Amino acid sequence: MAQQEEVFKKIVSHCKEYGFVFPSSDIYDGLGAVYDYGQNGVELKNNIKQYWWQSMVLLHQNIVGIDAAIFMHPTTWKASGHVDAFNDPLIDNRDSKKRYRADVLIEDQIAKYDDKIEKEVEKARKRFKENFDEAQYRATSPKVLETIEKRDALHRRFQEVMNAEGGIDLTGMKQIILDEEIVCPISGTRNWTDVRQFNLMFKTEMGASADGTSTIYLRPETAQGIFVNYLNVQKTGRMKLPFGIAQIGKAFRNEIVARQFIFRMREFEQMEMQFFIKPGTELDWFAKWKETRMAWHQALGFGAENYRFHDHDKLAHYANAATDIEFHMPFGFKEVEGIHSRTNFDLSQHAKFSGKKIEYFDPDTNESYTPYVIETSIGVDRMFLSVMCHSYEEQQLPDGQTRTVLHLPAALAPVKLAVFPLTKKDGLPEKAQEIINDLRFHFNCKYEEKDQIGKRYRRMDAIGCPYCVTVDQQTLEDNTVTLRDRDTMEQRRVNISDLRSIIEDEVSITSLLKKLL
Ligand code: GAP
Repeated sequence: MAQQEEVFKKIVSHCKEYGFVFPSSDIYDGLGAVYDYGQNGVELKNNIKQYWWQSMVLLHQNIVGIDAAIFMHPTTWKASGHVDAFNDPLIDNRDSKKRYRADVLIEDQIAKYDDKIEKEVEKARKRFKENFDEAQYRATSPKVLETIEKRDALHRRFQEVMNAEGGIDLTGMKQIILDEEIVCPISGTRNWTDVRQFNLMFKTEMGASADGTSTIYLRPETAQGIFVNYLNVQKTGRMKLPFGIAQIGKAFRNEIVARQFIFRMREFEQMEMQFFIKPGTELDWFAKWKETRMAWHQALGFGAENYRFHDHDKLAHYANAATDIEFHMPFGFKEVEGIHSRTNFDLSQHAKFSGKKIEYFDPDTNESYTPYVIETSIGVDRMFLSVMCHSYEEQQLPDGQTRTVLHLPAALAPVKLAVFPLTKKDGLPEKAQEIINDLRFHFNCKYEEKDQIGKRYRRMDAIGCPYCVTVDQQTLEDNTVTLRDRDTMEQRRVNISDLRSIIEDEVSITSLLKKLL
């Protein structure tokens, strides 16, 4: 675990050093849980968004996109339930004056039990060496069994308080913290306040005059922009059920425990798709979208073993099925995407609060009804983080050197081709520029002439550039260049006129989309 934490720290520094992600307002020492994407980060992020958008809108004839405003009528959030129920349970330590999410303190405690189990297993592995039977050890070791029992009991209790009748049981939550003897990481004491609810929405004011202003919220999810536009899109697009509306955009949450870099941010981006369907068909569509979304993730080639579904046992009152797609991050399996069967809750609520009839007339059955919805909701930044974490490698080379390389899927890489003149003279820079001028219409190219070729390769490896080309004296004679592959580091001589056909297919988003068909 400690080793994984080390790797994660290195990934965070790498993101900054190579222009992927910077702390927001860095010159003022940053702003908590807010980040800026740099020159390489924005390209990678745009490619992720393009992959998602095209998989939704191009590959499905019955899915269209929208781009709704971040500011919405304040009643939206009353109708959606966010004003009353979008809360986190908070607890303060009186000695350190630090505030924590009570549920996160308990989750961390569960993780500590898990760590303890893994440490026991590792110790036994070292002790028994090749005779070690891990499954048998886990099933029989008294120490492991005792810790599993404690962990499971805590987990059950936690589920009970989180899903109590009438909302989270705040008193029960504090009791768990006291019973488990959880201490404040700063003060080391157990001097806790009661647990209180805290709304996560950011508020601001719209309008200038005192009587004309109204409190509005920065949207905490993009989904509501889709729900309130359901009628507009259905009517103007003459959409027939089933159909979907996709959207990519910023969302804002005043997260109290913001940590793990861009995993939990206060300003982040979501890619959400609401799929409107006939009531009664929702469980079939839920299963279909689970499969479709998992295939989208796995087409990136990170290995099926790094993904899993986490089906929710306890559901929100309006949902009748929900699952998370979790990815194996250096800090464990974590949610990257949620898929929810939300019944007709949101559309019915907006109908009630707006007084508008929000229904679908089904020409096949001659009946009107409020559609049900399957939602797929993925965070762009979490997706970005999973791509970075899986791609980062400090590779030991046969010659004893090491290189840091990002094995990014070529279609997502910020730069697809780097072109180097071997030297800065004899017309080589001009020839290199000529190649870029020709290929830049097809994919992102970068020119580099500083330092020796080896150093330039390393810089390109570090940003995940899949191909480098070197222009030398021979190029001037026969129009061939050396093409170097990022992952294998193999080099081969190819004709300049063949570069486009060798590279273009592999680096295009289409190459990923084709895997989904
Ligand atoms: N409309 C449903 C919805 O917003 P959610 O589970 O709260 O559901 C969906 O969020 C996805 O948005 C998550 O799976 C995650 O990828 C991303 N997300 C949520 N909160 C986030 C945060 N504070 N920072 C970064 N990403 C976040």
